[in-house]
Amino acid sequence: MRLTDYFLPTLKEDPAEAQIVSHRLMLRAGMVRQSAAGIYSWLPLGLRVLRKIEAIVREEQNLAGAVEVLMPTLQPADIWRESGRYEDYGKEMLRITDRADRDLLYGPTNEELITQIFRDNVRSYKQLPCNLYHIQWKFRDEIRPRFGVMRGREFLMKDAYSFDIDEASARVAYQKMFVAYLRTFARLGLRALPMAADTGPIGGDLSHEFIILADTGESEVFCHADLLERPAPEADYSADLDAVIAPFTSLYARTDEKHEPEIFEAEVPADKQVTARGIEVGHIFYFGQKYSEPMQCRVTGADGKEVAVYGGSYGIGVSRLVGGIIEACHDENGIVWPWAVAPFQIGLINLKPGDAQTDELSERLYKTLTHKGLDVLYDNRDERAGAKFSDMDLIGLPWQAVIGPRGAVAGEIEVKNRKNGDKQTLDFEAACALLAEPPSD
Ligand SMILES: Nc1ncnc2c1ncn2[C@@H]1O[C@H](COP(=O)(O)OP(=O)(O)O)[C@@H](O)[C@H]1O
Ligand SMILES: [Mg+2]
Repeated sequence: MRLTDYFLPTLKEDPAEAQIVSHRLMLRAGMVRQSAAGIYSWLPLGLRVLRKIEAIVREEQNLAGAVEVLMPTLQPADIWRESGRYEDYGKEMLRITDRADRDLLYGPTNEELITQIFRDNVRSYKQLPCNLYHIQWKFRDEIRPRFGVMRGREFLMKDAYSFDIDEASARVAYQKMFVAYLRTFARLGLRALPMAADTGPIGGDLSHEFIILADTGESEVFCHADLLERPAPEADYSADLDAVIAPFTSLYARTDEKHEPEIFEAEVPADKQVTARGIEVGHIFYFGQKYSEPMQCRVTGADGKEVAVYGGSYGIGVSRLVGGIIEACHDENGIVWPWAVAPFQIGLINLKPGDAQTDELSERLYKTLTHKGLDVLYDNRDERAGAKFSDMDLIGLPWQAVIGPRGAVAGEIEVKNRKNGDKQTLDFEAACALLAEPPSD
């Protein structure tokens, strides 16, 4: 992408309304613009990151056996009356009436709608287990939307819903999502810690929040330091999942809601006690027959008897993750994108557009890298070098390739690793080879 053809409205100054670094950097890097409190437009650079996160989330959901659907943002109120949640949800739910005076709502979550779809289409245990997910915008009229996309009112969520014939198989469905979540966050370049979370009225031990540690996080968390060292598991969903997740669930890890200081002290040696703040990027829970009972979602079991299905739901905050990744990956000059979610992998700076040799070498590098399938943002603007460098640092692409008139004569390209600042001067072939791979730390 040539920058002169792109839409990248960067800001030099910190916007006054942004309290945390990710919000500041997303505005400054031209990724989003607020349209109303907690409601954002995604500009091209931000949208690229959002789509990359979405793609990784989707791949891992598919690998774990979940099947993608797409439900609408608007839902009829009737199904929420059936489940009993229409009144309970209170002011967070945006309620809408259509021209025929029918009550609609902008979905804050989808348990009711997916239960209706399942109930109307599945009759037999033979079609189980079943896990359906979608990636769709949600609306929750939060009292205090803040921190940019981290706590928005409109936000993009991946939500999956599992249906099983009994509690034991529902537990397996839960464990598959547990593994998929560990893998997803690791691929995004994050270390997300599964923490025992409140299950609400259902009870049981089957609810985990996935938390990334960051000082600006809204939750306070307590955990065993070894949890931070555990590598994400393989995507082998036929393995004994109890054993696969045990290394994560056996260590103390709780948010403040579930924290018990005596147990923490007793179970975790003093030098391993981590008390930190964190951002909730995912949340999974088992709720059994909470929706299937009131909504009459039944299938015929192997013995011919009807059973209300056992369910769980599994959310990932896709748009929140954009901010979360920036909280974890930035320095004083701007964002430092992990390779897997970088909006472009390479930022190419032409220091002297209009100079024949500089243009020729820049164009040649741009085309060669693009033909290799790499995403290159080519700064071909007629701008001061300083402005180009600071914009490129701000938007945080993993590699920078700089071509100036002197280097162009010698056929040399300066390559900079955005993360550690290392610079190398390379010839064309060597530069192409280096830029095709993720930078080393
Ligand atoms: N207001 C919001 N803005 C952005 N992301 C959100 C918001 N609320 C929830 N999410 C994301 O969606 C995921 C699933 O939501 P859920 O657990 O149902 O919400 P909550 O924890 O707020 O009750 C959360 O883990 C979080 O990553
Ligand atoms: Mg939650």
